[in-house]
Amino acid sequence: MEVIIQPDAAAAAKMTARLIADAINAKPQFNLGLATGATMEPVYAELAAMNRRNEVDFSRVSTFNLDEYIGLPPEDKNSYRYYMNYHLFDKINIDKKNTNLPDGMAADEVAEGARYEAAMKKAGGIDLQLLGIGSDGHIGFNEPLSSFASRTRAKPLTPATYRQNSVYFDPPETMPMRAFTMGVGTILDAKRIVMLITGAKKAGIAAQAIEGPLTSMVTGSAIQLHPAVVVVLDEGAAAQLTMREYYDWVFAHEPKWKNYR
Ligand code: GLP
Repeated sequence: MEVIIQPDAAAAAKMTARLIADAINAKPQFNLGLATGATMEPVYAELAAMNRRNEVDFSRVSTFNLDEYIGLPPEDKNSYRYYMNYHLFDKINIDKKNTNLPDGMAADEVAEGARYEAAMKKAGGIDLQLLGIGSDGHIGFNEPLSSFASRTRAKPLTPATYRQNSVYFDPPETMPMRAFTMGVGTILDAKRIVMLITGAKKAGIAAQAIEGPLTSMVTGSAIQLHPAVVVVLDEGAAAQLTMREYYDWVFAHEPKWKNYR
């Protein structure tokens, strides 16, 4: 794992967008794993701006999102399909046919999980998975106690996640209590992982995921099992990391980071 700390959330988002764009430029036929949440909005704004400036081309990119609420149709403004269209897909030169999310309206939940897994496999697997982290440590919607071997499936959300995310719903009680999510095992199959964590409120959970013990109580800690992870944080989210000096040392001296400093 490599940990990169940027001065603020805007710089951390720009760095994340550059990592994604550079990976796509190195392999134009690219399978990109995507995440939602407020943290990702400036990343998508930057990728759209880079696309407008012809710095990255999405014409041969396929995307697979981590998760989707169960019971929300694509046109619902709280669905993750709507979020992705609004923040990214409508603003870049991607073919919408190549954008994938679990179908929140699928009648057969088990079949939908299997369909999504098969679609990723058929595409050749995820080249880079973008991840955020929930306040309870979840990646995707893998709530505490999700198995590190889990695959795409329906997952009940915790009351804490419900309280946190229902602020976007009007009225809040219309938020679904369950979601489809890639499993932890699905996420770990990606060839590379880039996790973005910003904001002082996430400092505690960031330290647990990055430096804490491996535990399904914090599914974000599973990234420690993956051989190619970069975590990008702002100063606020990095505040409780104990190995800070080492992370900055690596970023300042390793040749691979020369063009990002
Ligand atoms: C949701 C998503 C996660 C995301 C999390 C954090 O729960 N399922 O993938 O990481 O929100 O969101 P935010 O960036 O708004 O803190």
